[in-house]
Amino acid sequence: MRITITVNGNPIEADDVWEGESLLFVLRERMALPGSKNACEQGECGSCTVYLDGVPACACLVAAGQCQGREVRTVEGLHDGDQLHPVQQAFLDTGAVQCGFCTPGLLVATHDLLGRTERPSDGEIREALAGNLCRCTGYEKILDAVRLAADRLAG
Ligand code: FES
Repeated sequence: MRITITVNGNPIEADDVWEGESLLFVLRERMALPGSKNACEQGECGSCTVYLDGVPACACLVAAGQCQGREVRTVEGLHDGDQLHPVQQAFLDTGAVQCGFCTPGLLVATHDLLGRTERPSDGEIREALAGNLCRCTGYEKILDAVRLAADRLAG
């Protein structure tokens, strides 16, 4: 089937999409958007987190066919022109990116958290990011990144 999804503000078509194909596969393999990562494919690790109609979702668990006519925002759509989003910059500045595999999902989840909660507590940060696994950082630098981003966004 042919589907059209608005991705990062642009309508993008994909042809020959199989009914069971995931949104993650279509984004990465048919729409040339490899930012969302493919790791567990079971909705457990969070590395494929994208916004679907403004709500974070694991793209590996969503059938692409269900996304016809809907809005998806990926990590590639967080920045503003040449400027990294403050969440992205904070992850870089605090050393919260090591291998980077978890980073796109964490960026989307953090962006969502800070859009809802200006100054989250550590408990709120941990709860919001509980679905995003990181094998490298021990999470402390990620917490530092979220706190720094919150400070910068609150200005
Ligand atoms: Fe490697 Fe998180 S930076 S999994």
